[in-house]
Amino acid sequence: MKIKVVKDKKELGNFVSDIVCKIIKEKNEEGEKAVLGLATGTTPIPVYEELVRRYNNGDVDFFNTVTFNLDEYINLPQEDKNSYHTFMNENFIEHININKNNVHIPDGNAEDLEEEVKNYERILQDSGYQDLQILGIGHNGHIGFNEPGEFLLADTGITHLTNETIKANSRFFENINDVPKDAITMGMRTILNADKIVLMITGESKKEIAAKMLKQEGITSKYPATLLYLHPDLTLVLDEEAYNAAQEIINSEV
Ligand code: GLP
Repeated sequence: MKIKVVKDKKELGNFVSDIVCKIIKEKNEEGEKAVLGLATGTTPIPVYEELVRRYNNGDVDFFNTVTFNLDEYINLPQEDKNSYHTFMNENFIEHININKNNVHIPDGNAEDLEEEVKNYERILQDSGYQDLQILGIGHNGHIGFNEPGEFLLADTGITHLTNETIKANSRFFENINDVPKDAITMGMRTILNADKIVLMITGESKKEIAAKMLKQEGITSKYPATLLYLHPDLTLVLDEEAYNAAQEIINSEV
């Protein structure tokens, strides 16, 4: 695992955008489409901002890019302000020249959800899986909506949110009871199929999970993100806030 510490959100946006743009350029030079695995949440927002800035500057062209989002709530209308469809449109998709047919976000309102998750995995597989997967992380170590538990999903599937995640995500909803309890998420194998993975951890509030990830003690389904250690090309990017606070925890333990 490579570790990169960035000063702040701006540097995070620059660092991850450099990786994204390099992959798009390389793939386009080979006459292929870059396949990006995308994440929602507040953590990747500086990356989308920087990518949109570079697009407006003429530094990157998204026309031949294919995207797959990690997850989506079940039974939340796509036009709801908290749906991941809305998040992606507002923060990224509407601002770039991507072909909308190449944008994939699980449909949490599909009539047949079992069929939807199988189909999502199949399209991803047919696209050759992600050249790059970017990830944020929950305080409890979830990635996508792969929540801690005895069993983790291998392929894209249906998952139930833990109370901790419902509580964390309730900050965006008027009422905690409005937070959907279920979601579609890429599974652990789906994520690990990516050629390259970038996991971002920012802010002091993530110090416990940042310390856990930095220690690299082992792999456990209690912290799904630890399965990422199995990946040969994983980069953990932390901002100074998360990194310094995590180091304090690590130092206090020895
Ligand atoms: C949600 C998403 C995750 C995201 C996490 C952390 O639960 N499903 O993909 O990583 O929130 O979000 P934030 O970056 O806002 O802390």
